[in-house]
Amino acid sequence: MVDKVYISETGDYEGREVLLEGWLYNKRSSGKLRFLLVRDGTDIIQCVVFKGDVTEQTFEIADKIQQEASCRIIGTVKKDDRSPLGYELQVKEMEIIASSEDYPITKKEHGVDFLMDHRHLWLRSTRQHAILRIRHEIIRAAREFFDRRDFVLIDTPIFTPNAAEGTTNLFETDYFGSPAYLTQSGQLYGEAAAMAFGKIYCFGPTFRAEKSKTRRHLTEFWMIEPEVAFNDLNDNMVLAEEFVTHIVKSVLKNRKRELDKLERDTTLLEKVEPPFPRLHYKKAAEILKNCEEDFTFGDDFGAPHETLIGEKYEKPVMIHHYPAGVKAFYMKRDPEEPEFALAVDMIAPEGYGEIIGGSQREDDHDVLLGRIREHNLPEEAFQWYLDLRKYGSVPHSGFGLGIERTVSWICGLKHVRETIPFPRLMQRIYP
Ligand code: 4AD
Ligand code: MG
Repeated sequence: MVDKVYISETGDYEGREVLLEGWLYNKRSSGKLRFLLVRDGTDIIQCVVFKGDVTEQTFEIADKIQQEASCRIIGTVKKDDRSPLGYELQVKEMEIIASSEDYPITKKEHGVDFLMDHRHLWLRSTRQHAILRIRHEIIRAAREFFDRRDFVLIDTPIFTPNAAEGTTNLFETDYFGSPAYLTQSGQLYGEAAAMAFGKIYCFGPTFRAEKSKTRRHLTEFWMIEPEVAFNDLNDNMVLAEEFVTHIVKSVLKNRKRELDKLERDTTLLEKVEPPFPRLHYKKAAEILKNCEEDFTFGDDFGAPHETLIGEKYEKPVMIHHYPAGVKAFYMKRDPEEPEFALAVDMIAPEGYGEIIGGSQREDDHDVLLGRIREHNLPEEAFQWYLDLRKYGSVPHSGFGLGIERTVSWICGLKHVRETIPFPRLMQRIYP
């Protein structure tokens, strides 16, 4: 019996015979030799088929096998310093598991729409592999950061009776005859959990009917949101910068190969280290005064403004104290300057824009009730949320990091559509 191994493990089997199972990635031939690049998801290995070593049948299979046909191969692992893997397979026997006629994604250039329509197959390419493995590492590191600090993971609901982040981009659905909304953020539930567990995080898909077609917006995206009782805005910013630093360092350490594959220049990523620059909204607005982009003091920053500010710094920058009017109803205002909210956005460098939004929350019952009324939100749906301010209310803060924007920045991608296996955009719900 030969050992069945994954390509990534072949290094442990040098000189031995193994069985590999995978798909044909690419092939070339030269005289009596066929060079098959075979992938199994863990890596890619070159399998060398020499006519003199194999049966006529095996050689014919090696000759005819098509791109993405699945196969089973037995051969001997040899060291090969020229290949990225460091090993190749000298083939002894080979069989096809299933054929693959006219695989649509070939080596020629395809347009983005074509690739997006074939996303289910496009995932097999090395570039998509690199991106999605980095995504996995970002998520792994993000959870590790909070787990190590004893935050409790709280799963928040996806069906909700009320809005958390404004009513303009809600996805409404029918919930047994009553309207319900797909969650825009787990935060409000996270606040309840923080009053129960002290420090918590939630992590899940969030939904926004974003009607704009931009490089940064998906209609379904993943957000990780910590919420901490007794943290003020400053504590929140310290947590955010340590969190982002941990993620970036983990990717640099554990996914170097993938970053190389994407040809990511990591100079600036290597500089990510607390403290991050902090800018009062007024200071950020100052920067915009002297540039071409139209901007009115008191407005929220749009993508071009964020890009301009982000490009001024080598590290992510935290903008705090936004005008209360442009931010969410639940944000606490600064008692010293009540026109500003105790909000913070983190803007990634290199033009990637906002990756984190967060704030200290309003903890006074009557003030919060007033805000809910001002925003014309349904009071009944918020009774439970107001309860949190009736029974032992405390200062508390939290933030949300968008996974896809973070992947986009760390990988250096122009568009968020490649940062998630099956992107949901205004004009795309297939495949
Ligand atoms: O700034 P946002 O809207 O903040 C909240 O939802 C808060 N409730 C979070 C909290 O305090 N717990 O969204 C947070 C982050 C943004 O910074 C961005 O990274 C990402 O979520 N995001 C999106 N990512 C992709 N597509 C979209 N349409 C996004 N909208 C927000
Ligand atoms: Mg925001």
